[in-house]
Amino acid sequence: MPASETTALGSAGKAPKAPSERRAEAPARDALPPPAIAVSDLRVAFGKGAERFEAVRGVSFSVASGQSYGLVGESGSGKSTVLRAIAGLIDDWSGRIEVKGRPVEKKRRARSFYRTLQMVFQDPYGSLHPRHTVDRMLSEPLAFHRFDHIEKRIERVLEDVGLGPAFRFRYPHQLSGGQRQRIAIARALVLEPSILLLDEPTSALDVSVQAEILNLLKDLQAERRLTYLLVTHNLAVVAHMCSEIAVMNAGEIVEVMSVEQLRRMAPTHPYTRQLLDASTGYDAEKVARFERFA
Ligand SMILES: Nc1ncnc2c1ncn2[C@@H]1O[C@H](COP(=O)(O)OP(=O)(O)O)[C@@H](O)[C@H]1O
Ligand SMILES: [Mg+2]
Repeated sequence: MPASETTALGSAGKAPKAPSERRAEAPARDALPPPAIAVSDLRVAFGKGAERFEAVRGVSFSVASGQSYGLVGESGSGKSTVLRAIAGLIDDWSGRIEVKGRPVEKKRRARSFYRTLQMVFQDPYGSLHPRHTVDRMLSEPLAFHRFDHIEKRIERVLEDVGLGPAFRFRYPHQLSGGQRQRIAIARALVLEPSILLLDEPTSALDVSVQAEILNLLKDLQAERRLTYLLVTHNLAVVAHMCSEIAVMNAGEIVEVMSVEQLRRMAPTHPYTRQLLDASTGYDAEKVARFERFA
């Protein structure tokens, strides 16, 4: 498991070097605020020579501040790769990524970047360091980013994710899957970012726990005015959480639609239609017959 998944992004485990923070250019007086995330012509390839494989092939989209934006598509369509490039976990990409109007660097990210944007990973079992207590997982990023009142912040964030102070000195193996994902969310939120990248945040959880975590994420978003970029292969999850969705197939966005269009089952692209048909009751046979459109 990559080290970055067991530490907060931009925390001690993957220390960004000295801040080379850029000042945002002063916005024009009545200009709209920039989107929280703007991605244009993002390309990511893995491997070299004959092995070279383009996982993301010219993806563009933008997420307004305070919005909940869904990225959907079947497994392997490039969703996580898009998130990882935005989060700074992949260095080798081309195109342009702006966070709150500032272009992000390919390799080094300023420390302040990680106070703006954090990521929650799919697997709450793999994403927490097995030998670190909750207290350590939450205090390290705070110390690294030189926050004050560390104890108070830890207690408050545990409260905010629905866990009491009793959880502070527990280890991951002493937590249920849902509790672990609450800790992963707490770790992402403890630096008070305004943007969360959520990579299938409930797909590793029991169905009974999934709705609890989704509702927690919704409440936190309202309380903290967060912007979410949510990756999922589950259309019910995006319909519950998001206002707008982009549909990915084989590394490309094939359709952008509002959640109302999704609810009316009114996609225009045949790939989205396949995805919808397959998701109204999972039909493995239909999925196996999926055609590629990109
Ligand atoms: N680090 C990597 N090295 C090589 N191939 C990768 C790597 N990460 C992802 N891929 C490949 O890129 C494609 C997209 O992966 P991913 O973004 O994880 O898809 P998704 O999240 O939509 O399931 C897949 O074919 C996957 O095997
Ligand atoms: Mg993925």
